[in-house]
Amino acid sequence: MSKLDNFKRYTITSALPYANGPLHIGHLAGAYLPADIFVRYLRLKKKNVVYICGSDEHGAAITIKAKKENTTPQAIIDKYHNQIKESFAEFGISFDIYHRTSSAIHHDLSQEFFLNLYEKGEFIEKFSEQYYDEDYEQFLADRYITGTCPNCGYDHAYGDQCENCGTSLNPTDLINPVSTLSGKAPILKLTKHWYLPLDKYQPWLEKWLDEKDGEWKVNVFGQCKSWLKSGLQPRSMTRDLDWGIDVPLEEAKGKKLYVWMDAPIGYISATKQWAADTGNDWNLYWKKQENEADDACLIHFIGKDNIVFHCIIFPSILNAHGDYILPQNVPANEFLNLEGEKLSTSRNHAVWLHEYLEEFPGKQDELRYVLTSILPETSDSEFTWKDYQARVNNELVAILGNFVNRVMILMHKFYDGRVEGNNEITLTDKTIAGQLYDFYNDLEKNIEEYRFRQALQNVMDIARLGNKYLTEKEPWKTIKTNPDDAREALHNCLVLIGRMAACLQPFLPGTAEKIFDMLNIPPVGFSDDVKFENGHQLNISSLLFEKVEDSVIDAQIQKLLDKKQAAQATKVIPLVPAKENINFDAFAAMDIRTGTILAAEKVSKTKKLLKLTIDTGLDERTVVSGIAEYYEPEAIIGKQVSILVNLEPREIKGILSQGMILMAEDTNGKLSFVSPVDALHNGSVVR
Ligand code: 2FM
Ligand code: ZN
Repeated sequence: MSKLDNFKRYTITSALPYANGPLHIGHLAGAYLPADIFVRYLRLKKKNVVYICGSDEHGAAITIKAKKENTTPQAIIDKYHNQIKESFAEFGISFDIYHRTSSAIHHDLSQEFFLNLYEKGEFIEKFSEQYYDEDYEQFLADRYITGTCPNCGYDHAYGDQCENCGTSLNPTDLINPVSTLSGKAPILKLTKHWYLPLDKYQPWLEKWLDEKDGEWKVNVFGQCKSWLKSGLQPRSMTRDLDWGIDVPLEEAKGKKLYVWMDAPIGYISATKQWAADTGNDWNLYWKKQENEADDACLIHFIGKDNIVFHCIIFPSILNAHGDYILPQNVPANEFLNLEGEKLSTSRNHAVWLHEYLEEFPGKQDELRYVLTSILPETSDSEFTWKDYQARVNNELVAILGNFVNRVMILMHKFYDGRVEGNNEITLTDKTIAGQLYDFYNDLEKNIEEYRFRQALQNVMDIARLGNKYLTEKEPWKTIKTNPDDAREALHNCLVLIGRMAACLQPFLPGTAEKIFDMLNIPPVGFSDDVKFENGHQLNISSLLFEKVEDSVIDAQIQKLLDKKQAAQATKVIPLVPAKENINFDAFAAMDIRTGTILAAEKVSKTKKLLKLTIDTGLDERTVVSGIAEYYEPEAIIGKQVSILVNLEPREIKGILSQGMILMAEDTNGKLSFVSPVDALHNGSVVR
């Protein structure tokens, strides 16, 4: 190993998922699959590594879900913690512990951290006006308040962060803030909180981060630098909430720790629990050692929306405490999209892991393979079912499975599965041996530099090499003309299969195990030699992968469409709050009339717009309307509608729109024309 080689211990973490819903492929591709590959690799290199994760069970993400499901936060976290834990296990994510932040050990450690900083005088204690929902008698922090992001203009930014641009926010930064409880604009109310002075830490953070230049991923380093450039602000570490960890101060009774203060400490408390369970010393994995060379190497695997918390806020907390090591690296991934759209829990636009397991039993490695091939390592990437099918059929079946299958079939056909030679059977082909040597350097470098997509392709190259070699050697022909040559070629292939299985272990652990089982040898280390004793008996082989049929893929695509429609039907948009009163004159100034749609067509290069020709009774005119996603043009011709005829004409996409069609939208997002119940002459006045 390169730089990574110098450490005595490795503490690897994956972001703690909120226990507020099941996992989908985006989770796996973001923070878990890359970390699992990395950890399995370290273990194969005989490194001392602990891999930590658990459920994040506090904060508004949990309480809002409980309210939605009409149950308690405790019931929510119990339900989803177990489901999430099971999905991870099924996909072979090999945590040393999957813990939970609701545990006593975590509450104690988080309070200890808070008190440590409090006693050092690190916090700024400040009364300030915070948003408050009068109807629900609750302060509105984090996900309880949404509004427009002042940084990127995204409409649904949360009170603590915009998930669109990643910027960390305070609720008072939001433009047009709205309570997610009542849907109303909040009022301001005075309350006291304890702030982490990030502005004070800025010079230290800058120096520390500058040391990571060139080593950290460009996307991660760049984001950190840009936040630092805009200047850090103090950030409250406490909340007025009734779910979470109590702030351990008499005067803060009823207040809780900010979930992003306690969650990362969850990595440490989980390690403490693991150490207690296994007789290890957790301090060795987290605390600065007397000699810096003995410090563990801490690496956080996360998704890009968590960068600010892992690269700015948590390091600041660790540094303010003083006893703890800081992350060596935070290889954050970007986002995975699905069939051209963002993955979305609320719109049910996702491939859920528990559903995949039911519908594709035993096919975990197929999904691991496809996701690893498209990991959003440097930019957002895209999962489509067609691509899943192509990668399974053209790569796993046709390249990897085919190589193993061809060799195993020939070995059983020609030699009844016995590996027989003069003595020990090893790799005798010099060209292949040379290629393997180069290949290991490349593979290790790719894994150590977090390029897992490329690393997986390196492993597939062994299968490609094997297929090519087999085709060139043609043992099915030479078995008659030169049987020694045929035997040697097949033996070389067997060794190659063993070495490929060794390298496959971090990526497709189930497949690697199956191959070792077919070869009838114990698993070997990453770049270890593979040898067969003279007379070694191979096991019966079976196909490693099956072709995915079109019908299976079509069914999955249809399922996503059905879910989308169902989500649309049940979508609940908060009722728009009542507007200010207006006088009669303001109403009378609007000239609303009945009219009939004479023609309708899509406006080219837009998704939402229809160009309508309306008979208003007064004239025939053009109106551009944003209803293309709801109505097919042909279906609305002849419909009588209401139209505001004296709206100032406006040019939209090069078309002069003269007026506006009145539409109503219900709380399920369903749209309807506002039409007269009885047919009227066009031009009839609405009053
Ligand atoms: O974004 C999330 O899903 C958070 N629950 C991640 C927490 S990571 C860590 F800090 F605990
Ligand atoms: Zn934003």
